[in-house]
Order: sequence, then structure tokens, then C-alpha cells
Amino acid sequence: MNSKNQVSNDWGLTSIIALILFGLCAITYLHSPIEIDGVRATIRLTARTSLTLFLLAFMASSLVKLFPSDFTKWILKNRRSFGLSFAFSHLIHAIAIYRLASIDLALFKQLTNIVSYVAGGSCYFVIIMLAITSLYPVRRLIKPQTWVKIHTFGIWLIWAFFLINFGKRVPHNPMYLIAIAPILMALAIRLIAKRKPNLNQ
Ligand code: HEM
Repeated sequence: MNSKNQVSNDWGLTSIIALILFGLCAITYLHSPIEIDGVRATIRLTARTSLTLFLLAFMASSLVKLFPSDFTKWILKNRRSFGLSFAFSHLIHAIAIYRLASIDLALFKQLTNIVSYVAGGSCYFVIIMLAITSLYPVRRLIKPQTWVKIHTFGIWLIWAFFLINFGKRVPHNPMYLIAIAPILMALAIRLIAKRKPNLNQ
């Protein structure tokens, strides 16, 4: 079975997740009486929804290898939907960041710096590349080896970016270890799965 046949081409799940994300963000934004608080809560919420969706796509094939079941096979089958939903979640992150900069530039500058613009901007470029090359008409134009190289590089860069972005907040608030744990667990799962012999070969 090649990698393309393993994934679902169904936009239904992607649309459902996108609608749920949109609803959650709308509630979060509108719930706060002060707009700036609603915008900041939306930035934080989308960082967390993005992480969840990203890790599902990141671990999908390793989970099937280590814990084969209908559920892990379903995650793998829908890996592309989770990846595209991650990109959508991060689109909302970007819109909320833009809104924050529009309504309180001083606070935006206080929360960010040149490193976050360059690193975050590069990461956004990679997310857009991965999303575009996940669309089948585009994917068909790319050599399979090149596609795998682009996606392997991209997912590890995003993984590292999540680790750094949540990790740098731990000294101020140890509760961020709750986000670090699944990031490191996903790494362990991938490394263990890589060492496990593939019984289908
Ligand atoms: C130029 C691009 C980006 C900018 C300017 C930016 C800006 C921000 C800002 C201002 C916050 C803090 C919000 C607050 O505390 O009120 C934030 C939080 C965060 N961002 Fe972004 N971001 C960018 C890209 C990214 C990317 C690409 C990722 C991950 C792949 C990411 C992950 C996070 C995480 C993990 C948090 C912490 C959320 C939390 O507190 O739970 N950001 N971002």
C-alpha cells in the first residue's frame, strides 16, 4: 500500500474540525468583555488546538505501528485532514495576532521580538508549503521522494517550534509542562516506532 492510498481524500472531517475551531474561537473572543483579552485568549487557544491537531498527524503512522487498532488506523487514514485542520487553526492564530497588533501595537511589541518574527514567519512559510503540497493536484506534480523530504523537514521544524514556544513559558508558569509532556511523548513514540521492525516487509 503506498502512502497516498493510506490517507482519506474526504474533506468532511476537515470541514467539521474547521467549524468546531471557528465556533470555539468565536465563543472565546466574544466571551471576553474587553476585546484585547478575547484576542489574547484566542491566540492561546489556537496555539493549543494547533498542537493537538499537529501531534495527531505527527504520530499517526507510529501509533499504528506500535498500537495497531481500528482507532489508530482511523487516525492514520485521516492524517491529511488533521494536518490541514492544523493549518486552519494556525490561520486563526495569525488573524488573531494581526488583530492584536492592530488594536494594541505596544502590547504586541512587548509580547514579541525580532526572533519571533523571523522564526514564526519561517514556520508560517513552512506550514503554508505543507498545506499546499498536501492537496492532491499539487502533490501529483511533485516527485514522491521530494514530497517526503519537504514534509519530513517541515514537520520536524514545526515540532521544534512548538517545543521552544511552549518551553520558553515554563519558567514563568510551570503549568506549561502540560503542553511539553505530549510534545516529548510524541517524539518518544516516533523514535520507538522507528526502531520497531516493520512486520509487513
Ligand atoms: C510571526 C509569527 C507569530 C507571531 C507574531 C506569534 C505571536 C504570538 C503571541 C503574541 C503570543 C502570545 C499571546 C498572549 O500571551 O497573549 C503567541 C503565543 C503562542 N504561539 Fe504564536 N506567533 C507566531 C507564530 C507561531 C507559530 C508558527 C507557532 C507554532 C507552530 C506558534 C505557537 C505559539 C504558542 C505555543 C504560543 C503560546 C500559547 C499559550 O500561551 O498557550 N506561534 N504567539
